[in-house]
Amino acid sequence: MEALATILFVGAGVGFILGLRMLAHPETARKGNLVSACAMGSAVLGTLVTILEARRGLASDAVETAASASPDALLYVAGGLLVGAVVGIPAARLVKMTSMPEMVAIFNGFGGAASLLVGWGTFQRASTAHQSAQRVLDGVTGDNSAITTEVNVSLTALLGSFGGGDGRFITATIFLAILIGGVTFTGSLIAFGKLSGFITTRPLLYRGQNLINGLLLMVIAGAGVLLVMNPEESWVLPVCIGLSFVLGVAAVVPIGGGDMPVVISLLNSYSGLAACAAGFATDNTLLIIVGALVGASGIVLTRIMCLAMNRSLANVLFSGFGSVTKQSSGAKGEHREARSLTPHDAYYVLEAASSVVIVPGYGMAVAQAQHAVKELADQLEANGADVRFAVHPVAGRMPGHMNVLLAEANVPYEQLAEIDDVNPSMETVDVALVIGANDVVNPDAKGNESSPLYGMPIVEVNRARNVFVLKRSLRTGFAGVENPLFYLENTSMIFGDAKATIEALVGEFKSG
Ligand code: TAP
Repeated sequence: MEALATILFVGAGVGFILGLRMLAHPETARKGNLVSACAMGSAVLGTLVTILEARRGLASDAVETAASASPDALLYVAGGLLVGAVVGIPAARLVKMTSMPEMVAIFNGFGGAASLLVGWGTFQRASTAHQSAQRVLDGVTGDNSAITTEVNVSLTALLGSFGGGDGRFITATIFLAILIGGVTFTGSLIAFGKLSGFITTRPLLYRGQNLINGLLLMVIAGAGVLLVMNPEESWVLPVCIGLSFVLGVAAVVPIGGGDMPVVISLLNSYSGLAACAAGFATDNTLLIIVGALVGASGIVLTRIMCLAMNRSLANVLFSGFGSVTKQSSGAKGEHREARSLTPHDAYYVLEAASSVVIVPGYGMAVAQAQHAVKELADQLEANGADVRFAVHPVAGRMPGHMNVLLAEANVPYEQLAEIDDVNPSMETVDVALVIGANDVVNPDAKGNESSPLYGMPIVEVNRARNVFVLKRSLRTGFAGVENPLFYLENTSMIFGDAKATIEALVGEFKSG
């Protein structure tokens, strides 16, 4: 049985690593998700086997036996599975693709809270055992030094034996699980509130904010040192938990709604680090592996997003991006007019095009136009055009948003191109078809230093021979920045819902 549990845990660890690797590529991502889910199933099974083993008194570790053999242990795992399934299955089925970032935010928050509870629970178990020992000691009368030596174990030593390591190290990991888990929990709740509109998306800024947050972090660090040096001070742990909650809120409120996807990715990394610390605190190797994987991949993703927006992480976290009035490249009071076309007129240009670049954006996700877009791409190819999809890394509202939608519509992976693949040859493109994208094609990002988007890499559709922009109005995109692209000589707006417009274009092709 012990061998079976080990096999299940090793299988889970390998499954998580393989799953993560497969998730990195659109072609294998779905399988990667399945492999990761199976790995989680294997981890749960391994836990069940460990509990059964402990109940039969077979576990080699005495402490583990005592904890896992509790008659309630199986009940807790079964209850956790039930609650998880009741919440998780409908959530996965019902949540819209456009609300995925909110869902990830909530998942991160619960992950952080779980690590906090594991750390707290480990501390409480040792603390309760220590108090019982103290009561025994209080009851010892006369000279009974044998019992006194046996029972008089410090809380630090007990924490060490409960966590399977040095007592001070285990206390430090418990503190980290609580600090990072607490920050992740409340920070993720604020991120969820900002994304779903419960809380204003504007950054909440006040004087000396970064200094106050820095001081708060130093106070918590001080409390952590006190906890490690003297865990018997029972008031320190609840104070650490409370302050970590405050720090999570204080760290996320100054960040604008536009930067929430980056914050969520960072909090995802934090939830992994908290799990890793909880793994050390409970001597759980699988939790350490999984936590480290989540922590590392979250930070890599955060970096990719920052690079795609040409901003540093410090700028995202501390600049209050989104609090100032946004610049437009047009002079004040200047009247500019955008040209508009009907799908019928646009058809004639597309029909004659031999090279088309499609740039999908958040509007394609809102309109759920991906299947119609694929149909249009097929029509264009059948008509002899070379069709490529230019996918901007931060198009949409979550990492890989466009890749997911295009994969769902079975757009071949070879047709997807990165910005650097399409920009150099943009002058030779007959039609750049911008479908519900706005910020990621804003030429001010390249040419207007006063624009908040300045420096962000864009798909340079403005250099194509013709640009068709499919959106409902001239309104701004996520960053709230006006887009001079709409007023260029070679640009035509095709107003309306993206799906309806694309379907009309497909209809034109079909009727020839
Ligand atoms: P946006 O700039 O947000 O523009 C989307 C456009 O879609 C809107 O201007 C809107 O215009 C249009 N739209 C909405 N519903 C539509 C519909 N049914 N049919 C047609 N058009 C519709 O999108 P983007 O170009 O994809 O840029 C993404 C933004 O999010 C960037 O600013 C990026 O920095 C930010 N961001 C993204 C991420 C990730 S990970 N993706 C992370 C951080 C920040 P109308 O209202 O006029 O229709």
